Amino acid sequence: MRVGILTGGGDCPGLNAVIRAAVLAGTQRHGMEFVGFLDGWRGVLDGDTVPLDEDTVRPLLTIGGTILGSSRTNPLADGVDDGVARVRKQLTALEVDALLAIGGEDTLGVATALHAAGVPVVGAPKTIDDDLSATDATFGFDTAVQTAVDACDRLATTGASHHRAMIVEVMGRHAGWIALHTGMAAGAHVTILPEEDPDLDAVADVTRSVLARGQAPLIVVSEGAKVHGEEAAKNAPRDAFGHAQLGGAGDALEHELLARVPGLSTRVTVLGHLLRGGTPSAADRILATRFGLSAIEALASGNLGTMASLHGVEVHQVPLAEATGVLRTVPDARRAETAGVRW
Ligand code: F6P
Repeated sequence: MRVGILTGGGDCPGLNAVIRAAVLAGTQRHGMEFVGFLDGWRGVLDGDTVPLDEDTVRPLLTIGGTILGSSRTNPLADGVDDGVARVRKQLTALEVDALLAIGGEDTLGVATALHAAGVPVVGAPKTIDDDLSATDATFGFDTAVQTAVDACDRLATTGASHHRAMIVEVMGRHAGWIALHTGMAAGAHVTILPEEDPDLDAVADVTRSVLARGQAPLIVVSEGAKVHGEEAAKNAPRDAFGHAQLGGAGDALEHELLARVPGLSTRVTVLGHLLRGGTPSAADRILATRFGLSAIEALASGNLGTMASLHGVEVHQVPLAEATGVLRTVPDARRAETAGVRW
């Protein structure tokens, strides 16, 4: 079997670890051959490939990003039938029997449509946002949270020196997992998620009381937070999957706090793409490796149209369609855990 691998959407730490595990296990256990498609679905549409063999992938475990490159190209943007036909044509020309698509909701959404049209494909879920249904976790998230927590720890010390409120904006688009876990692990006084309407007067109260006891308020805000009633978006074109470029939630919050707390000194730090870079944590290396191994076994056994998924401590294959229908956002129960506690 000749397998084409692609990585699509926003990159994250651990993508290379999936590629490594898949190529090594597929080659050694099943005699598979591999080819890499460059820049996600763009490489599939253009037939733009690189060879992938054991020597190429062995050093990849610790390396961030993706050696295959990524893009937000949507092959179905001009219609499903047209996109499926173009993909099928390239796979036939390149003698690729099946695809391993490593991606988030968009990339795996395309994989779901391709599977429905009869294209042999399996998936592996990645995203720092950790917002995919049908898996308890995606790799990349653990590294992103640790990076954000390290940054918050540093911001807390300079904030304390200057008696400032430090506002930290983190990624996560429509799901607040990164903000929730960063806020908990960094000991933030306030954490604002996209899943809630923020009570700005309450945020101002906490800010005042933390300052009054001689500490510096640490406020973590998700980029998708609706500080002004809706997400703060940049004045930039939407991507091929219709997503706006988010940004500005931290500034919006600063504006609101300055209006409510006279004499307040604040600084906003946007962590943004810092959270997507660098070497994967040990937990992400392990999860990515397990997902790569699981996806290869699915291909070998003909369990197509499925995605590697973590359930508790077990990795299973689940139907792609289950994974891409609904976003996994932070439930009320997780938000309630911290409600009413002044940190
Ligand atoms: O989905 C992952 C993610 O990092 C989001 O948290 C963020 O909103 C988005 O991608 C940013 O995408 P881009 O790299 O296109 O700016």
